[in-house]
Amino acid sequence: PPDDGYRLWLKYDLIKDVSKRETYARSVQFIAVNGTSQMLKSAADELQTGLQGLLGKSIPIIASAGARKGGIILTAGNGPTVEQQALNAEGYQITNRSDNIIIKGKTDAGVLYGAFALLRQFQTLQPVTALSLTSNPKVRYRMLNHWDNPNGTIERGYAGETLWKWYELPERIDPRYRDYARANASLGINGTVVNNVNASARFLTGEYLAKVAALATAFRPYGVKVYLSVYFPAPKVIGGLKTADPLDPEVRSWWANKAKEIYGLIPDFGGFLVKANSEGEPGPQDYGRTHADGANMLAAALAPYDGVVMWRAFVYKAAGTPDRPKADRFTAAYEEFGDLDGKFDKKVIVQVKNGPIDFQPREPFSPLFGKMPKTPLSIEFQLTQEYLGFATHLVYEAPIFKECLDTDTYAKGASSGAKSASGTTVANVVDGSLHGYALTAMAGVANTGSDRNWTGHPMAQANWYAFGRLAWDHTLSSEAIANEWINMTLTNEPQAVKRIADLMLKSREIYVNYNTPLGLSRPWTGVHFAPEPWQNKSSRPDWTAIYYHRADSLGLGYDRTSTGSNALAQYNPEVQQRWNNPETCPLPYLLWFHHVPWTKKLSTGRTLWDELCTRFYTGANSVRWMQQQWALVKNNVDPGTYADVAARLETQHKEAIWWRDAWVLYLQEFARQPIPAPYKKPD
Ligand code: GCU
Repeated sequence: PPDDGYRLWLKYDLIKDVSKRETYARSVQFIAVNGTSQMLKSAADELQTGLQGLLGKSIPIIASAGARKGGIILTAGNGPTVEQQALNAEGYQITNRSDNIIIKGKTDAGVLYGAFALLRQFQTLQPVTALSLTSNPKVRYRMLNHWDNPNGTIERGYAGETLWKWYELPERIDPRYRDYARANASLGINGTVVNNVNASARFLTGEYLAKVAALATAFRPYGVKVYLSVYFPAPKVIGGLKTADPLDPEVRSWWANKAKEIYGLIPDFGGFLVKANSEGEPGPQDYGRTHADGANMLAAALAPYDGVVMWRAFVYKAAGTPDRPKADRFTAAYEEFGDLDGKFDKKVIVQVKNGPIDFQPREPFSPLFGKMPKTPLSIEFQLTQEYLGFATHLVYEAPIFKECLDTDTYAKGASSGAKSASGTTVANVVDGSLHGYALTAMAGVANTGSDRNWTGHPMAQANWYAFGRLAWDHTLSSEAIANEWINMTLTNEPQAVKRIADLMLKSREIYVNYNTPLGLSRPWTGVHFAPEPWQNKSSRPDWTAIYYHRADSLGLGYDRTSTGSNALAQYNPEVQQRWNNPETCPLPYLLWFHHVPWTKKLSTGRTLWDELCTRFYTGANSVRWMQQQWALVKNNVDPGTYADVAARLETQHKEAIWWRDAWVLYLQEFARQPIPAPYKKPD
């Protein structure tokens, strides 16, 4: 039957090469499990299922290997050996000893991750002899954030409705919950916030907590803990109190009791995620209190338990209004959070979006990462393609994540040189290595939904995959991750793998070229899909498109240097130096920081206007190239998947032209210049 995408990268189709299969089969004649926990059982079951598919053989699970050779031995424990000491709580080690493959972890979770890592070896056709793989996750909380509502819709979701069947829970457990947990465990994702950050207080009622507890039970064998987004005024809305002031004793005890109730139902509950005083959501500032007051109150409620508070820094007051005409949304988060550095409880993590605005196709990193040494900062990426063409545009996101993670914050001043050696990249901040935080986290806003293939666009599965792999180990390259995913999901044929990887790796830049080149941002309103760079009316100036691109008769772009909003001043001096001179500012960031004259010659030798046109046109044309690349792998991928992606690429091409034309014709009114000759011809 054609592949419907349901099995994601855990397909386990029979390996075609018979001799390879036979070689593998000799090393895996049994699966011995020392222990009976749920997680060890998950590990053994997954190996059995996976190897059954890959090798076409049923491999027995046994309790102890004894003197047997030629099998897999799963073993958890915190022993004294050097190897065991090299592991952290969730790390694993895979070695070959006495003709067996040994998967070790300090904990059962480590063994589970090791089992998936071993399966990956088979799926990507790697050797399983002379193995010596040791891997520890670099951050502790590796999270998906679901923006799912109680009525089944998903905010910014493009793959159907929510996976959580609230009306059937807690009695009926959809088998899909287990597959969701397996997919996450295969990547090392160990936490999931099941409801939208624009939270409904309903999730904290007894009725809904029972449903959430049922989900927790379904995910637990795979090491995935549940978390809840909380509505800050819940004590008023469902608790009947007169206030939600975080310093009010009754409010504090309401939350403490609520935490007690939750832990009574879900002993390993992960904690709370909070969007407060942001985009109209209530919060502590409504009572004259700070974000720290709010977060610390929730931390106090969680004090008796393991849970943590993830408090979001995605905040911005209306900017460009008569009372704040020069205000820049870019600077808002640091303005509200900068002074609170060091004031948060030890159970609080401040969750920061990768960029200062909002998941644009390209953003500079958020200045908070370089400036909050005393506060554990989590990074929030968006997997769902809110600004990346929803489920019709193919955009492989690993390069977006990596670009941010690998940027130097210069948090310790001018460093030794090479960025990898500086130790002060965004990744080094987030993984705690720079400032020594105990709590470290990465969050991805999920792109999953009830569509049979989970993510709508079949290739968007790679974004879930890439996020999980990077949350485990941010040093992996975008290319290595693409290669793994393609081999596990689409094909093992080397030439086809190469072509698909090439297509994926170039896809983000292609999208940027026809959508927001040279550092443009936010050319849309409302649903965030169609081009609307002309949009100039809204309830707030910072919700118009013209606020962001600032096109006028002289030029284009947002001046964020000292002659403009001076947002650049929020970065460390070395970063400012890199970006504050329009002559040397890298072109991808140019219009983020500068208002550039239309006729200005850029480093490419073209004027701003010509360069913009070049990018819009080559970007849209490159989608044709993507289609051609995809056509070349037709015989190597499943026909259903082939046709699905081919059709979406056709839509993408149509829409890329739409984007190009909308921008070019709109900007031409300001630039008053002809479209450069090579691009004048109709398609
Ligand atoms: C974006 C998005 C909203 C979301 C918000 C957030 O603005 O459009 O739907 O609620 O981000 O991250 O809180």
